[in-house]
Amino acid sequence: MGLERRWLVTTAVAICLLSVSQGVSSLVRARVGGSAELACNLTPTSKEDTSPNLFPLHVVEWVRLGYSVPILIKFGVYAPRVHPNYKGRVSLIRGASLLVERLTLEDEGWFECRILLLDSKTDDFRNGTWTFLSITAPPVFIKKPPTFVEVLLGDSLTLSCGAHGNPRPTVVWHKDESPIEKHEKIKVLNGTLSLASVTRNISGVYKCHVSNSEGNLTHSLQLQVKGPPIIIISPEDTTLNMSQDGVLQCQADAYPSNLTYEWLKHGQNVYHIESLKSRVKILVDGTLLIPNLIPEDAGNYTCTPTNGILTPPSASAHLKVKHPARVGRMSRETYLPAGMEGLIVCPVQADPPVLYVNWTKDGNYLNLDNFPGWMVNSEGSVFIATANDNAVGMYACTAYNSYGTMGQSEPTRVILKDPPSLRVPPQPEYVQEVGRELIIPCDANGDPTPNITWSKIGATPRSPFSVLANGSLLLQPLSKDHQGGWECLATNRVATVSAGTVVMVLGTSPHLVYSVSVTTEMNQANVSWVPGFDGGYTQKFTVWVKQASRGKHEWASLPVPTSKNYLLVTGLLAGTSYQFSVLPQNKLGSGPFSEIVSVRTQAVPTEPPTAVSIILDPPTFLSANCTERGVLLQWSPPEAPSSPLTGYVLQVRRDQGRWVLLSNDISANQSELLVQGLIRDSSYDLRLMSCSNKLLSEPSEAVNVSTIGMEIYPLRPQFLGDHP
Ligand SMILES: *[C@@H]1O[C@H](CO)[C@@H](O)[C@H](O)[C@H]1NC(C)=O
Ligand SMILES: *[C@@H]1O[C@H](CO)[C@@H](O)[C@H](O)[C@H]1NC(C)=O
Ligand SMILES: *[C@@H]1O[C@H](CO)[C@@H](O)[C@H](O)[C@H]1NC(C)=O
Ligand SMILES: *[C@@H]1O[C@H](CO)[C@@H](O)[C@H](O)[C@H]1NC(C)=O
Ligand SMILES: *[C@@H]1O[C@H](CO)[C@@H](O)[C@H](O)[C@H]1NC(C)=O
Ligand SMILES: *[C@@H]1O[C@H](CO)[C@@H](O)[C@H](O)[C@H]1NC(C)=O
Ligand SMILES: *[C@@H]1O[C@H](CO)[C@@H](O)[C@H](O)[C@H]1NC(C)=O
Ligand SMILES: *[C@@H]1O[C@H](CO)[C@@H](O)[C@H](O)[C@H]1NC(C)=O
Ligand SMILES: *[C@@H]1O[C@H](CO)[C@@H](O)[C@H](O)[C@H]1NC(C)=O
Ligand SMILES: *[C@@H]1O[C@H](CO)[C@@H](O)[C@H](O)[C@H]1NC(C)=O
Ligand SMILES: *[C@@H]1O[C@H](CO)[C@@H](O)[C@H](O)[C@H]1NC(C)=O
Ligand SMILES: *[C@@H]1O[C@H](CO)[C@@H](O)[C@H](O)[C@H]1NC(C)=O
Repeated sequence: MGLERRWLVTTAVAICLLSVSQGVSSLVRARVGGSAELACNLTPTSKEDTSPNLFPLHVVEWVRLGYSVPILIKFGVYAPRVHPNYKGRVSLIRGASLLVERLTLEDEGWFECRILLLDSKTDDFRNGTWTFLSITAPPVFIKKPPTFVEVLLGDSLTLSCGAHGNPRPTVVWHKDESPIEKHEKIKVLNGTLSLASVTRNISGVYKCHVSNSEGNLTHSLQLQVKGPPIIIISPEDTTLNMSQDGVLQCQADAYPSNLTYEWLKHGQNVYHIESLKSRVKILVDGTLLIPNLIPEDAGNYTCTPTNGILTPPSASAHLKVKHPARVGRMSRETYLPAGMEGLIVCPVQADPPVLYVNWTKDGNYLNLDNFPGWMVNSEGSVFIATANDNAVGMYACTAYNSYGTMGQSEPTRVILKDPPSLRVPPQPEYVQEVGRELIIPCDANGDPTPNITWSKIGATPRSPFSVLANGSLLLQPLSKDHQGGWECLATNRVATVSAGTVVMVLGTSPHLVYSVSVTTEMNQANVSWVPGFDGGYTQKFTVWVKQASRGKHEWASLPVPTSKNYLLVTGLLAGTSYQFSVLPQNKLGSGPFSEIVSVRTQAVPTEPPTAVSIILDPPTFLSANCTERGVLLQWSPPEAPSSPLTGYVLQVRRDQGRWVLLSNDISANQSELLVQGLIRDSSYDLRLMSCSNKLLSEPSEAVNVSTIGMEIYPLRPQFLGDHP
């Protein structure tokens, strides 16, 4: 039903109620399945007729709001005509009252009884009563989820519960006996429980409870979340001795619980590893068992429990197998390059680490003291500074650690051979225009014939390069990033010899500058760098600067005078972070920006300079002697002043008054002063301060002088005389 239609019906009901409101309207309640009587009074309105039998000839008509034809019409003795929906369920009782049986929820609505008096002069229906039939019903489920629900981890979930009933039943969901109205993830709306992404912890027993005044019903369901296993016991790193039994645990929990465990060693299934497959066992609970450990069993083991759902988890542990030191596969022959340094390798395997390796040569203990320039290196190999005929022979090594040794190695035969030699080495430097072809030769002799390889020193160039069959390096087309050092290596089983060369690519934009450094002061920074190759043309630089806190578009560029590798950037703010980058340019374009260097300019000193006076000490041992000519002050200079003294300042106060300046031109090398002009019969305090340029020290201890009875106070009375 469209919204408009619904509105029309609602309006119609309102109108009917209005029209009936003058007459009588009543409400009849009945339960679904039961019966109801809708009363309609057949008593005549005129006073003369009292007996129903004598009631005038009439038609009884029951209409239902919303039905186009009456649901029952009865005339005289004829059987009533009944609407198909009410066949067998309606009948008239007590005259015109309507009995409706086997009530359904649909029977709820407005009914009207109309009586038409056939002999009436008005020739009209007599409007009867409007009656509202209300059907109450206990809840009945119309929609409920299955009693067992499985949902995949991460999927969405909807459980709908709906019920009929009158009054309209309310639906309440419970999980494991507690209501789930308020939950961040689970939403309940109009009886429907929904969840965007299922987590494991939502498994449980859910109950949908529907209730109204007429009764209640509960539907229970079990919810299970299907997901990959969870490892509850992870394997732990383990250290064991050889011959012990290795045990690595791995226990997982899962729904569905059809778990299988897989163990990998370094990514390979343990059942596919030759040394393990006949010995390992994986127990039902996931534990990996390796009986009678051998040194090869050491390594990383990874356990992966799976039930075939989503991505299984995994957990790893490292197994260490301690054993006496031993020597692995020794090569049958060792070639040493005549006249060059060489190595006779002892492939030691040891855990705990090897302590020392002993060698035998031709069956005798190899005493290195007899072979100057030979040594056994930290790996246990014999290092020979210059191989010659002395080195030829049969060698074997024995390795020891704190557990001892597992014995001597197989022997290796040491053979002396000439190393490869470069027949046509590359020249030290090649200069070529960009885009052209550059072939750099590197041809070597040797037995066996050496293999020539080329590599670029530093980063591998993005532009391609190839090695020709005759060993030459082919750079075509020659590109900017071919610029730099190259090395040709000629390798055979005896030795590797190498030769280096430098390729200069002309006609390119300049290369990256390097070693950018910035020194700062308060308002300036000195940016300096080492220029890269100029690409064959004079290059110039610009320094780019911005405050670190500003955006990318605020970089400013500053030109650098030609042929300078530094720039003093002035006008900076103190105590502020700046970023710098250097850009090289030549007539063909710009090179790459250098790495960005971030620096902070020096901060303005926070303490004012007067604070320095704290470390300027006042003079000491100030004393005053009253002499005939005046008061003689004496003192000692401060010990080790932090800055050179430039003089002293004398202050005085009379009778505990204000301190006033008496003299500020006392020189630094003075240590006494005659104070004159004091007023008679007063008490004076005098004190001194050290002075270094504009810095003043704290005052010294004050000395007290009394002028009681003093006769002589010549000179400078103006200083203190008018003091009250
Ligand atoms: C009966 O009711 C109808 C409306 O339902 C009204 O139009 C009519 O006038 C009424 N008749 C009498 C006799 O009251
Ligand atoms: C609530 O559900 C009932 C039936 O289950 C439906 O008639 C009604 O429109 C729904 N209300 C909302 C707001 O979804
Ligand atoms: C379930 O686990 C999720 C995290 O995985 C958590 O956010 C949520 O609160 C948990 N819910 C309950 C009911 O414990
Ligand atoms: C559900 O109905 C039973 C009787 O059928 C009643 O005892 C109980 O209190 C009702 N529960 C609720 C929650 O209405
Ligand atoms: C392993 O062997 C060493 C020496 O053989 C011994 O000292 C140590 O106790 C052994 N450790 C274990 C766990 O058996
Ligand atoms: C073994 O695992 C550890 C971390 O668990 C890792 O650091 C180490 O590189 C692994 N070793 C190998 C050989 O995979
Ligand atoms: C476990 O059972 C599920 C179905 O319940 C199946 O899809 C899966 O393959 C099984 N996993 C294993 C390892 O047998
Ligand atoms: C092995 O060398 C060590 C010193 O490096 C020496 O003390 C020891 O005697 C040697 N062992 C043998 C069996 O020669
Ligand atoms: C030469 O080097 C190539 C590539 O590194 C290698 O495949 C080849 O086996 C080497 N040949 C010899 C004789 O060493
Ligand atoms: C190597 O071969 C290239 C082309 O095949 C040739 O141009 C070059 O001259 C040869 N170099 C030497 C040293 O033979
Ligand atoms: C800046 O640094 C360069 C190189 O370190 C130096 O030569 C130059 O004198 C410095 N300039 C100033 C003003 O400090
Ligand atoms: C002060 O005078 C007294 C005697 O008059 C003398 O003993 C003392 O040394 C004098 N002090 C100074 C600092 O001259």
